[in-house]
Amino acid sequence: MAKSFQKLHYSLFLVLSISLTLLTITKAKTNSFSRTLTPSSLGLKREKLSHLHFYFHDIVGGPNTTTVRVAQAAMTNTSSTFFGAVVMMDDPLTIQPELSSKLVGRAQGIYASASLSELGFLMVMNFAFTEGKYNGSTLSVLGRNTPLSTVREMPIVGGSGLFRFARGYAQARTHTIDSEVAVVEYNVYVFHY
Ligand SMILES: *[C@@H]1O[C@H](CO)[C@@H](O)[C@H](O)[C@H]1NC(C)=O
Ligand SMILES: *[C@@H]1O[C@H](CO)[C@@H](O)[C@H](O)[C@H]1NC(C)=O
Ligand SMILES: *[C@@H]1O[C@H](CO)[C@@H](O)[C@H](O)[C@H]1NC(C)=O
Repeated sequence: MAKSFQKLHYSLFLVLSISLTLLTITKAKTNSFSRTLTPSSLGLKREKLSHLHFYFHDIVGGPNTTTVRVAQAAMTNTSSTFFGAVVMMDDPLTIQPELSSKLVGRAQGIYASASLSELGFLMVMNFAFTEGKYNGSTLSVLGRNTPLSTVREMPIVGGSGLFRFARGYAQARTHTIDSEVAVVEYNVYVFHY
């Protein structure tokens, strides 16, 4: 009798220590640095392709300028390509070429003259949308823009909100340009969920 009680005691102890070990392993897993998820656990269903079309207004002069040169090099003034100039922008994006048409967002970021031999900008900017369901969502652009080319293509390297996991490209075409304002037509093609 005493012997079988001892046996029971022993097996209870064994079960308890195994459970404790399992608990520790599970806990270690949830505390671990990385884990694998299914896309659906983040609510991601099917990847879709969207096309966005808008006009970008780069206002470099006048009372309502949307750009400011924040840095330059000693040689920038004598460079035919403004090499070294760094400009910060907060440019409106509208549905039609007219600035007075519906605002759909803003292009916020930097363009910097990065070519010695032709007009060529490094573009680092976010499209911050305010239109309808896209309000609050952003797309990030990192690319090369040669404004004198008919079509410039820049990669979309990511996004937020409705544009999480975004990737794609933007095509820019100059619509009109004068000494104070450049209006640029953008067609953006982007995969996202
Ligand atoms: C600047 O903005 C003001 C206020 O929106 C507007 O009345 C004015 O016409 C604008 N000026 C130019 C040159 O666009
Ligand atoms: C470049 O030219 C501008 C105006 O022409 C002047 O204000 C600025 O000081 C010059 N910068 C350098 C680094 O020479
Ligand atoms: C976008 O969202 C912000 C914050 O929720 C809100 O204040 C703003 O009015 C919205 N804009 C548009 C155009 O719906």
